[in-house]
Amino acid sequence: MTVYCLYFSPCGSCRSCAKAAAEGFAGEDYEEINLTNRSQDLPEAGAGDVLIISAPVYGGRIPLPLAQKIARASLSGAAAVAMVVYGNRAYEDALIELSDLLTQAGASVAAGGAFIARHVFVPEVAEGRPNENDLAQLTSFGKSAARKIASGSFEPVQVPGSRPYRDRSPASFTPVVDADACQQCGLCARSCPTGAINPKNPHETDITLCIDCMRCVQGCPEEARSLPAKAKEFLTTKLSPLISITRENEIFL
Ligand SMILES: Cc1cc2nc3c(=O)[nH]c(=O)nc-3n(C[C@H](O)[C@H](O)[C@H](O)COP(=O)(O)O)c2cc1C
Repeated sequence: MTVYCLYFSPCGSCRSCAKAAAEGFAGEDYEEINLTNRSQDLPEAGAGDVLIISAPVYGGRIPLPLAQKIARASLSGAAAVAMVVYGNRAYEDALIELSDLLTQAGASVAAGGAFIARHVFVPEVAEGRPNENDLAQLTSFGKSAARKIASGSFEPVQVPGSRPYRDRSPASFTPVVDADACQQCGLCARSCPTGAINPKNPHETDITLCIDCMRCVQGCPEEARSLPAKAKEFLTTKLSPLISITRENEIFL
């Protein structure tokens, strides 16, 4: 039996959340798999295996590249713990989508959760989250999921969300590059989860592939990449009202 800790986490919060839940579930006895890497697929899993998987919420859905990876996975007989992580606005159909995809791949989803994290577009929204209290809740969530799965045959969990899911929103902008600051090191192109950045010319980003995940912006050692000014302004106006709101994590068992 293997416990897998899986995450698609361009900016790190989904990784922190998945690891805290996996530690609650299995102590240190789990295998970590980073699905943000373009070439990394889900492991083939079967009866006795457990997948603890966390996804960021993008426009109330899970990111398309992750959905595609789960859709081609073979998880027959495995148990799963489905987690979505969102920036204090709403998670809408993301958790039900994740749970449905895992079920269609053959897994039984034992537990679900929606957890709050800093919003990568406006980091003052849910700043500092997941915090110590969130991580303690995540660990305790992992323990509860482990008890449910260890009890043998369990009822699959019901999670909130609607079908058909809301439409996925395509990228309407790509990050811009400060040509003076960019050293052409290529880190952004190598770490982009969708291969949207031209490795020969990192100033070129393919808007049809870009998912606006902010990995290249956060990861650039020269701080050469940023949101276009208009997008930054629009997102700040839209999301700033959420700065003063504190939402609670939700757990479904
Ligand atoms: C393209 C995009 C769309 C997002 N959409 C939502 C959303 O619909 N609701 C929400 O509350 N947060 C939203 N967020 C915020 C992320 O869900 C949140 O910052 C998450 O922690 C990112 O995970 P990561 O740090 O593992 O990359 C969005 C972020 C991005 C980049």
